[in-house]
Amino acid sequence: MPRNFFTLMRSSAPVGTAAPASNGALLEPPPSMKRDAADGVGVHLDPNLEAVRHEFTEEVETALQLRNVSAFYGSFQAIDKMTMPIPRNRVTALIGPSGCGKSTLLRCFNRMNDLIPGARIEGEIEFEGRNLIDPNVDAVEVRRRIGMVFQKPNPFPKSIYENVAFGARINGYSGDMDRLVEDALRRAALWDEVKDELDKSGLALSGGQQQRLCIARAIAVQPEIILMDEPASALDPVATLKIEDLMRELAEEYTIVVVTHNMQQAGRVSDYTAFLLAGEERVGRLVEFGPTQDIFTNPLDQRTEDYITGRYG
Ligand SMILES: Nc1ncnc2c1ncn2[C@@H]1O[C@H](COP(=O)(O)OP(=O)(O)OP(=O)(O)O)[C@@H](O)[C@H]1O
Ligand SMILES: [Mg+2]
Repeated sequence: MPRNFFTLMRSSAPVGTAAPASNGALLEPPPSMKRDAADGVGVHLDPNLEAVRHEFTEEVETALQLRNVSAFYGSFQAIDKMTMPIPRNRVTALIGPSGCGKSTLLRCFNRMNDLIPGARIEGEIEFEGRNLIDPNVDAVEVRRRIGMVFQKPNPFPKSIYENVAFGARINGYSGDMDRLVEDALRRAALWDEVKDELDKSGLALSGGQQQRLCIARAIAVQPEIILMDEPASALDPVATLKIEDLMRELAEEYTIVVVTHNMQQAGRVSDYTAFLLAGEERVGRLVEFGPTQDIFTNPLDQRTEDYITGRYG
C-alpha cells in the first residue's frame, strides 16, 4: 500500500464479519487494528478498550498526518499529543466543548499559531512528505497551500473583485485574472449573486455572502486544504445551509477541515469526525476519531456519546 494511504476500519459491524476488501491484509483484524491504531485511525485511543469490529473499508489518501501534536501558549499546554489523519478530499469535523483546543489545533495546520507570541507546537504534521511544523518549512507557502476561513466573515475593505484577486496577485499570478476571479466566485457559489456588481465593496454584502466571498478568496490562491473555524456560526439558518452545501461541493476538489459547535452540522457536512475534550487541567486531548456516521451512531467512548447527546456544555 502506498505510504500516504490509510484504510479505515468501520466499527459498526459485528466482530468477524469482514466484508470483501480490496486488500487481503485488511482481513487480519488484530494486527491491522494495531497498525492503524498507531495513527489513530477510527480506533479508540484508550488501550483498554479494543475496537475490533469492522466490516467496510474505504481507501483514502491522507492530506495531513498528525503525530503526537502538542501546542502550548507560554507554559500553558492547550493540546496534548494528538495523532490522527486528515483524509484527502473529505470533510473532517473537529468537535468538542469550548476550550478543548479545536481552534488551536486548526491553527497548527497552517502555522497560524506562529503569529501568536509565545505559542509553540511540538510533534509532526506530515504534509506531502514534510513536517510542516519544521521551522525550515516556509510558513507563508504553507498558508498558501492550506487556506483558512474564519468564524466572522472578514473581507478586505475593497471591491468584490479585488477581494478575490488580491491573494493571487501577491502570489505572482500572471494568468487571466478575470477568469480566475469568476472561477473562484463560481466555486464559492457566489457568482450569480455578484456578477453584475464586482466593483461593489465586499463589506456591502450580506454576512452569508461575505463568508462565501472569503471562501472565494481562499480558493483563488489554489490551496489544497481549506480550514474553516465555525464558518457559519455568525450566519442565519439559510446562509448556514448554503455554506454547508458549499463545503460538500468543495470536498470534491479540496480537503476541508471544519470546526463546529453544531452537532447537526457536523453530521450533515462531515465524512470524518474528531472529538476533542479537555480534562480538569484544561489540556485538550483527542478522544475519538473515525467516520462521522460511526462516531454519531456508535461512539466507542462514553464521553463521545455524552457529548453528541448534549450532556456536556
Ligand atoms: N492566544 C492564546 N493565548 C493563551 N491561551 C490561549 C490562546 N488561545 C487559546 N488559548 C487557550 O487554549 C485553550 C484552547 O483554546 P481554543 O481557542 O483552541 O479552544 P476551542 O476549542 O476553539 O474553544 P471555542 O469552542 O470556545 O472556540 C483554552 O484553554 C484557551 O484559553
Ligand atoms: Mg475556537
